[in-house]
Amino acid sequence: MTAPPTTPRPPRAELHLHLEGTLEPELAFSLAERNRVALPFADPAALRAAYDFTDLQSFLDLYHATSQVLRTAEDFADLTVAYLRRAAAGGVRHAEVMVDLQTHVARGVPLEEVVAGVARGLADGEAETGVSGLLIAAFLRHRPAAEADALLDDLLALDAPVAGVGLASTEVGFSAAPFAPAFARAAAHGLRRTAHAAEEGPAWHVTEVLDVLGAERVDHGIRALEDPDVVARLVRDQVPLTVCPVSNVRLRAVPSLAEHPLPRMLAAGLNVSLNSDDPSYFGGYVDEVDDAVTAQFHLTRDQRADLAAASFRGSFLPAERVATHVADVEAWRGASGNTRPGPAAS
Ligand code: ADE
Ligand code: ZN
Repeated sequence: MTAPPTTPRPPRAELHLHLEGTLEPELAFSLAERNRVALPFADPAALRAAYDFTDLQSFLDLYHATSQVLRTAEDFADLTVAYLRRAAAGGVRHAEVMVDLQTHVARGVPLEEVVAGVARGLADGEAETGVSGLLIAAFLRHRPAAEADALLDDLLALDAPVAGVGLASTEVGFSAAPFAPAFARAAAHGLRRTAHAAEEGPAWHVTEVLDVLGAERVDHGIRALEDPDVVARLVRDQVPLTVCPVSNVRLRAVPSLAEHPLPRMLAAGLNVSLNSDDPSYFGGYVDEVDDAVTAQFHLTRDQRADLAAASFRGSFLPAERVATHVADVEAWRGASGNTRPGPAAS
């Protein structure tokens, strides 16, 4: 597939996306009604009005609470398809979707229901939109590592269609080290590895997930800039960093978009892609993130193409599919000067 030269944004992959974070308030209310679950808000507008976060934890509390409306495979499939439709409209060609399986299993939803629903949603969504998807099982830092070990056992026993494992949730105060055995076993079974680090926590958290977990890419990593040695290593090894500027502002990891370290990260030679994280909660799907940082930092077409190419190169797709997507990015890069909005991206 070749990018039409008229698209205002490059084709891209989204690598840092939590499925639960795509739950729009309207869908949350319709699932709540379908499943007879009470939400402590009068209506979608009241829920959306609560999206005023002071830090990561204040967001996670609401995110976990709202996720309780997700109960059946059908719910997970509907949520996944809704995300892929919106992603496709913004120019996403491939999405690697993290799911907080422990959250759902802990409140009694069978693992098979969640996995089957997301897998069906990815297949149906790809058939409809052309956007390919991979499922990443995100272990949760704030829950016991033994639970992650058991989850991995269950996923392997089910032969679940999972491409990789991740590490997400509360960063500060919860060490990544206890998750080393689960990551090592995942690697031994051919699963890919990503981990959140240095979103709110210090730069050495990046070193920890690389060395202790064998992470192949790092989610966020913005505070790596505070340690030149960590930056030097990330540049040398070109470790993909899935950066989420709008999320960082909404969770107050940085005070404003103007103060976001993205330009410094690019200037340092870090391997950065743009991502949304939890777009429903933060008011920014990845195309809107691209628009916001392009306007804020006056990014050039070349810089935007570099960010988009990095998204495919940092993906867990096979090399030949990466090459095809990167060729489409290069076609977009070369179609300079023509920024007439395309049909899907206005
Ligand atoms: N889970 C969902 N969004 C997250 C974030 N920004 N950081 C850590 N865990 C998350
Ligand atoms: Zn995240």
